[in-house]
Amino acid sequence: MARQILHELTRLGYVENIVFPCCSGRCKNCTFRCNSANFAFDKPAIAEVAETFIKEYEMEDRMEVMGGDYGRDPIGEEYDLIWASGTLNFVKNNMDSVLKKIYDALNPGGVFISFHDGLTHERTKPETMVLAWLPTVLMGNDFGFDQGFVADSMLRVGFKSVCSRTLDTLMGPMDLDIGRKAK
Ligand SMILES: C[S@@+](CC[C@H](N)C(=O)[O-])C[C@H]1O[C@@H](n2cnc3c(N)ncnc32)[C@H](O)[C@@H]1O
Repeated sequence: MARQILHELTRLGYVENIVFPCCSGRCKNCTFRCNSANFAFDKPAIAEVAETFIKEYEMEDRMEVMGGDYGRDPIGEEYDLIWASGTLNFVKNNMDSVLKKIYDALNPGGVFISFHDGLTHERTKPETMVLAWLPTVLMGNDFGFDQGFVADSMLRVGFKSVCSRTLDTLMGPMDLDIGRKAK
């Protein structure tokens, strides 16, 4: 999945040299520079679990984990790339303020990628996503995104350009919205 998204970024010309911290499964289309600083952010309990994986893969010198709530807590600063994968749904009602925080945390020319569901046809498609959300909807929480919801917010908070793609993934069609901050 990560590789599919990173290739899409190079194809679109958003990233020239992909900095990808994973040593395994190198790919001939990417230029690897494994000396980048990389951060993972999730809720404290999940961050603890992530740390155990990072140790297992001996990536402690290249990965730092931050535990918190990205809706309320600081997320760091001076990033070249921020990637939110299947997570922004939980701040759906606070999207502009979270995306502004992400925008502010990027360096000039920085790129923000959000990978998420994008519901279409009056929220009846893609079928896989509608069904995946059904239990939470029945419990009264509608976290699903209409297609374009994240992209629109990116433009509102100041991203200079936004490019969107729908990718075929193992989970069904998923959207990739890529925002670039002005240099
Ligand atoms: C559907 S999972 C996606 C996990 C992973 N990013 C991936 O792509 O496989 C959503 C993740 O978002 C995290 N999350 C939800 N709300 C959050 C918040 N307010 N602050 C930090 N992390 C949050 C959850 O703990 C969970 O790990």
